[in-house]
Amino acid sequence: MLNSSIRYQDHTLFCDGVPLKDIVAITGTPVYIYSFKRVLENYERIRTAFAALKPHIHYSAKANANLSLLKTLIQAGAGIDAVSAGEIHRALQAGAAPDSIVFAGVGKTPNELAYALEQGIGWINVENIGELQLINEITKALHREPAQVALRFNPDITANTHPHIATGHGGAKFGLTAETIRDILENQERYPHVHLAGIHLHIGSQLHDTDATRQAVQAALDLIAPHPAIRTVNIGGGLPVAYRPDDTLPSLGQFAETLTPLLKDYTVMLEPGRSIVADAGLLVVSIIYVKKQAGQAFLITDGSMTELIRPALYQAHHEIVPVMTGSHEHKPLSPVNVVGPVCETTDVLGKQVSLPEMFPGELLAILTAGAYGMVMASNYNARPRPPEAAVLPDGRTWRMIRRRETWDDLLAQDEMV
Ligand code: LLP
Repeated sequence: MLNSSIRYQDHTLFCDGVPLKDIVAITGTPVYIYSFKRVLENYERIRTAFAALKPHIHYSAKANANLSLLKTLIQAGAGIDAVSAGEIHRALQAGAAPDSIVFAGVGKTPNELAYALEQGIGWINVENIGELQLINEITKALHREPAQVALRFNPDITANTHPHIATGHGGAKFGLTAETIRDILENQERYPHVHLAGIHLHIGSQLHDTDATRQAVQAALDLIAPHPAIRTVNIGGGLPVAYRPDDTLPSLGQFAETLTPLLKDYTVMLEPGRSIVADAGLLVVSIIYVKKQAGQAFLITDGSMTELIRPALYQAHHEIVPVMTGSHEHKPLSPVNVVGPVCETTDVLGKQVSLPEMFPGELLAILTAGAYGMVMASNYNARPRPPEAAVLPDGRTWRMIRRRETWDDLLAQDEMV
């Protein structure tokens, strides 16, 4: 959605001080554009809201793992929440100190665990007993100091969010049950090369109320109460972001107010992803064709589900607006379907979007696309992934932070036999 960085000035959509059309003139479309100023402001907003808990903020790289973006957040003081060895590698390349990286994930392979331990990363969030045993063995074999481990708790609480991004209910594959955690904590001598130091939970993304989180955190605290050596509580990510102007969501302040009284005697870690990058980014696409059939109007664009899969995968809503509004001022809005060229009926970026009459060659911006956009892009239909550009924190300078893939990039891994 529009905000202090993504806004119109003289009928032209800007990213901070730069008109989007200036960037697009160089990059072409489709292209992701980010405001690093907004990214840093979002990071600071979270820090300020939770200030009473002095949380360690580990940006969740899965939301957007562009190297320049990671570097910008790392330089601002953020740690990184990585969910694969690939993300750890990216975080290290971007300048993260190994001990500021948390390694999470439901199925870490032995190779990934060995890599993480060799690199000396700070924390591992453990999701099953086999993983704990592996960490114990690998650490012993490497003759290393034990890494700090947080046990990921599945509190069996259903978060109020889209079912595809809820993770805290009993039937989900995530985390350890209360019973297993009790058993591990009561038998710590089984894992002499593991430093059990924290508890971790993440009940879902885009959380619509604070109460489920409060209940989950309380249940986690009850579990660790008999074990005073466990001083760290990692409360995951999930802080929500408005995708529509009329979304009613709890504020950062409400989450902080709810949780601060519970957590004030603990070291607190947060893993926000979406709330840092979503509204700092957008996807610009060009209209290729306008088509009317079966009583429907379609704008067929050069952007698709391969750049932004969220609408196809979660029926997610993203506001779609013209990049230039000047020539449309007096024309009525009419609902159109904004679709891509991919051979899938679900390749829709927006259904029944209110837009002025628009023509081939004109630009549309798909808003709030900074999180889970580029990272989930694919090469389906042999579509090169789009470039990324960023307006730097000064608000005036912009840079390409990833080039557009080429057809040759797409062929590079194939072997022709
Ligand atoms: N920590 C853990 C353990 C997670 O699983 C996640 C997200 C996060 C932190 C960051 O959550 P956030 O602050 O971004 O809500 N692709 C989906 C979202 C998947 C979220 C997966 N886990 C989407 O586009 O909505």
